[in-house]
Amino acid sequence: MKLLVLLLSILSLTNSQEYSFPDDFLFGVATASYQVEGAWNESDKGENIWDHITHVNPSFVIDESNGDYACDSFHRIAEDVQILKDIGVNFYRFSLSWSRILPTGHINYVSDVGVEYYNNLIDELIANDITPFVTIFHWDITPFVTIFHWDLPQPLLELGARVDYAAKVFELFGDRVKNWITFNEPYQICEQGYSIGDLAPGYTQQGIGGYLCGHTILLAHAQAYQRYYSEFSEQGGRVGLVVHGVWGEPETDSEEDAAAAEAFVQMFFGWFLHPIYSDDGDYPPIMKEQIDALSAEQNFPRSRFPTFTEAQIESLKGASDFLGLNHYGAYLCRAANENDSTVIPSHWHDSGVYCYLSDEWEASASDWFSVTPWGLRSILNWIKDAYGNPEVIVTENGFTTTTGDVVDCRRVNYYNTYLQYLLEAIYEDECNVTGYTAWSVMDNFEWQFGYTAKFGLYSVDFDDENRTRTPKMSSYVYKNIIETRQIDT
Ligand code: NOJ
Repeated sequence: MKLLVLLLSILSLTNSQEYSFPDDFLFGVATASYQVEGAWNESDKGENIWDHITHVNPSFVIDESNGDYACDSFHRIAEDVQILKDIGVNFYRFSLSWSRILPTGHINYVSDVGVEYYNNLIDELIANDITPFVTIFHWDITPFVTIFHWDLPQPLLELGARVDYAAKVFELFGDRVKNWITFNEPYQICEQGYSIGDLAPGYTQQGIGGYLCGHTILLAHAQAYQRYYSEFSEQGGRVGLVVHGVWGEPETDSEEDAAAAEAFVQMFFGWFLHPIYSDDGDYPPIMKEQIDALSAEQNFPRSRFPTFTEAQIESLKGASDFLGLNHYGAYLCRAANENDSTVIPSHWHDSGVYCYLSDEWEASASDWFSVTPWGLRSILNWIKDAYGNPEVIVTENGFTTTTGDVVDCRRVNYYNTYLQYLLEAIYEDECNVTGYTAWSVMDNFEWQFGYTAKFGLYSVDFDDENRTRTPKMSSYVYKNIIETRQIDT
């Protein structure tokens, strides 16, 4: 501990801060139910797709681990809220486990134990002046529907169930929860869950499943949003969507690379934002054109890319009160050549771009992102220009290491530099960013990477039954930023 304090004072001697975070700018930390709660079969909790896949196919996760016990947060509300208080956050972004609240997935059976758990968590947060920021669907959905068939009725069944679930949680918790996120990262749910298959439920319907899933999620989001305003508006809250935005930087100054990078951002990020934030309320034109044309070339009887009806377009337009941005890093992008994409028809192939991490960038312990703080500023500017400067809350940002070491200088550097670029986006570019969320408050179950990739501001001893949490240097640095509203660099 002494060492930490010493390191911190050395860091603060070199304060070169230019900007301060605005007074009303909010700071938080995030987790998700399956990643921290554990208690996978406590009382009447139902099975979700992550329980299922990790039990039937342990090697789905790199270290053959699972979230059965995770950080045991289900039994540690007071301890966890105390940690949030110690860091000094304004809000806590957590998610609800659908199968804990509705064990069968349907609203005809609500679990008292599940509801009590979230009531206790919400009440404890509020008692400590921490705003609950709640994600309704964060990957661990109840597995009762196959979404990837071409038949429309099956996804529609799920669509109905999802919206009913959303309405149920508005009813149960909306008196106290005023910040709602419908879905976390539709791209990852859909492309990785239903097309590439490295996230649960692990389906591999390349070039089709992801698009149908994305379509269903957008419609479910719009319906949940509209339902909030038709039935629960007196609660006075707001409802947003969280999208993972990887910035695409052109590999060279050429026009072709600029076009490829733009296509990448449109087709991986704009896919879920264009229908909500653009004036036309539909998918990005480039995405429709390319997938329609490729489907015809590949002799599909109809396009692999779904279409919205006029009524659906109307329900999507403007259906988000804030844009939640999860951001970790950038890629370099160029137009793909034939060798770049071997899986046809995949979304990557459809996009016609090839993107990768530069060897020159500092690597994280995750193979999918490097340290590129300037990318955060770039993607915020892209959002501003493409969609008329909507309100953005950075709902995730953080750095991975392979160990839970408490002297985590590289994580400190990551936060400092990303937050510096965020300040520049606010002050120099006038991007409308109102909040920031560190992923994550503690090391936890990182999906297909199990416990091998650690994002926490606190380490967790996973060998100890009590799951002892220990603050890392980064937690003190983040606390200091929140307190002083400045970055020590
Ligand atoms: C994306 C997801 O929302 C979260 O669950 C995950 O752990 C982090 N980002 C890091 O991959």
